Amino acid sequence: MTTRKVTMLNGDGIGPEVMDATRKILEAAKAPLEFENAEIGAEASARFGTNLPDSTVDAVQKSGLAMKGPTATGIGSGQQSANVALRKRLDLYASLRPVRSVPGVKTRYENVDLVVVRENTEDLYAGLEHIVVPGVVESLKIITEKASSRICRFAFEYAKKHGRKKVSAVHKANIMKLSDGLFLDCFRKASRDFPDIEAEEVIVDNLCMQLVRNPEKYDVMVMENLYGDIVSDLCAGLVGGLGVVPGANIGATTAVFEAVHGTAPDIAGKGLANPTALLLSSVMMLDFLDLTPQARRIEKALDTVFREGKVKTKDLGGSANTSEFTRAIIDAMV
Ligand code: NAI
Repeated sequence: MTTRKVTMLNGDGIGPEVMDATRKILEAAKAPLEFENAEIGAEASARFGTNLPDSTVDAVQKSGLAMKGPTATGIGSGQQSANVALRKRLDLYASLRPVRSVPGVKTRYENVDLVVVRENTEDLYAGLEHIVVPGVVESLKIITEKASSRICRFAFEYAKKHGRKKVSAVHKANIMKLSDGLFLDCFRKASRDFPDIEAEEVIVDNLCMQLVRNPEKYDVMVMENLYGDIVSDLCAGLVGGLGVVPGANIGATTAVFEAVHGTAPDIAGKGLANPTALLLSSVMMLDFLDLTPQARRIEKALDTVFREGKVKTKDLGGSANTSEFTRAIIDAMV
């Protein structure tokens, strides 16, 4: 079996702690991976004067595979977020967030199993804004055929690979007839190449209401950047929040797997962080690499620890620290 190199981007705050835990569990699962470190975030800023050095971008481009911890972004500091910069420079056009119920984490629903596919490169997120006259601001929503087609195709390909039955296009084309209309056209065209997968269209506000009432109605959902930003957090809320939800940003040649929570400055350095989100992202990475036995091994061990409920970190109402939780998962591996 060939060994794949993974670039580890620790990030800030609890980043190094959750990365270290995840790496130990990947090693215990005997995943054929080789790790190299590269810097991102505050530590990189101190050493290189930028939160995303060229050497880091080069390393990820070369390995084609990275795991990333959260990075701190100052509000209104003028510094671009390292996350956004990394996505742009590597053209990581698809944000992928599978959202599944976690055994032992009590929420309103027990069998949530959704996937949010979010376009990552355009829409209102392009940040093209200007002041027309004092008191009037214009913000431009950019939607292109190229980006819409590739994200819709990505969603169908993902559905096919993972045995999913339905892809829903989420839109507001009843109001934004040109921009969201173009997105829907691209969705319809992509769907023709996947006749075995049901293609459905749903207006974004209706989707939000339906999701909180009947999340089991949906399967894979594909949408523009801003709707994806909001809907993906709504979905995370259905299963217990950002601490138990994995994520990935994927491009044509590079994939970055990361937790979606932040740097948790209030608990950083105290050994209290819950590594579950990053660990689940690493399971996504193993599946992406078709390392199915190792992926299932970690997933099952995590399920066992959660189901037994004896070893839980503080954020989930327990008293275990990061290393006790990591040890429990390694011990639960069969
Ligand atoms: P946050 O997610 O860091 O923290 C919110 C709350 O959740 C805190 O009480 C924290 O202790 C807790 N928490 C988060 N992750 C946890 C974990 N793994 N285990 C246990 N508890 C956890 O969000 P906040 O405070 O809004 O942001 C802090 C910093 O993180 C900011 O600088 C922000 O820009 C950055 N951030 C980075 C992200 C990324 O790199 N992907 C995503 C979100 C925020």
